[in-house]
Amino acid sequence: VKILITGANGQLGSEFRQLANEWPDSEFVFTDIEELDVTRIGLLHGFVANKQFDFLINCSAYTAVDKAEDESEIAYMLNVQACENLALVCKKNNIVLVHFSTDFIFDGKKTGAYIETDPPAPLSAYGKTKLLGEDMLRKNCNNSLIIRTSWLFSAFGNNFVKTIIKKASENNQLQVVFDQIGTPTYAADLAYAVLNIIHQYKISGNKLYHFSNEGAISWYDFAMAILELSDTKCDISPVLSVDYPVKAVRPANSLFDKSKIINDFQLTIPYWRHSLEKCINLLKK
Ligand SMILES: NC(=O)c1ccc[n+]([C@@H]2O[C@H](COP(=O)([O-])OP(=O)(O)OC[C@H]3O[C@@H](n4cnc5c(N)ncnc54)[C@H](OP(=O)(O)O)[C@@H]3O)[C@@H](O)[C@H]2O)c1
Repeated sequence: VKILITGANGQLGSEFRQLANEWPDSEFVFTDIEELDVTRIGLLHGFVANKQFDFLINCSAYTAVDKAEDESEIAYMLNVQACENLALVCKKNNIVLVHFSTDFIFDGKKTGAYIETDPPAPLSAYGKTKLLGEDMLRKNCNNSLIIRTSWLFSAFGNNFVKTIIKKASENNQLQVVFDQIGTPTYAADLAYAVLNIIHQYKISGNKLYHFSNEGAISWYDFAMAILELSDTKCDISPVLSVDYPVKAVRPANSLFDKSKIINDFQLTIPYWRHSLEKCINLLKK
């Protein structure tokens, strides 16, 4: 199997790099903006032509959620325009496009976990661009796999786990919101699931799935577990979102129902705390 990965230096892309040698019979080509700028369709066409890729896994994205409120044009280029480019290139070359979206396409007002067919209603500029990006794939792809994920963390890149450990080492006191609930997703678990799926199943048509780790917590619970598992000392106070203003509005409920992906691909998804422990052990090394 021949796989092209874009945005491969980010946190999720780096996890695909780590896992590649577990599929020695497959050929992986890793690219980030320096080798392959996904906003430039001419470059994309030239890069994939005559290379017979079976899959393109798109890990590139504009992920600065608060900055996106002021930089919506840049976010649009990467989260929407690039999706159209990738979809057209994949369609022309008969490549299955694997792409990632977010819990931020929902408004978080549902009671209970979100299923794939729940109506989207993004609250932020970032969420709006990610939803439009999904639409670009649905409109322009023949064969694609869109996986919505939430609260991504990894030993690579920037994320909440690394931010909390850093801030806790610099401050005696931190405030973390407790009225937004969801489930963290270890990027390594997501990458592993994707590689298993594409090596075992034929993807035909445009498919949409939800994926996170198992469990349900608030950001406050997550921060407390990060401190405990990393042996970091700091007082963390739970605060309401209204008392912790940020530029972009986040959904209060980000919980995903994962039955569809579990049933269709026979997945066993790890509990978030077990995966957090693995990630923190890597960070300690
Ligand atoms: N992070 C989360 O909590 C979260 C939650 C839910 C869903 N997701 C989704 O999960 C996916 C992976 O997120 P992530 O956290 O791994 O993202 P990330 O760490 O921000 O990685 C994105 C990568 O894309 C690269 N990139 C930027 N512009 C590019 C271009 N024009 N062409 C090619 N590559 C480019 C970035 O390079 P630079 O760093 O040099 O810009 C970076 O290496 C995204 O689709 C995201 O929306 C993330």
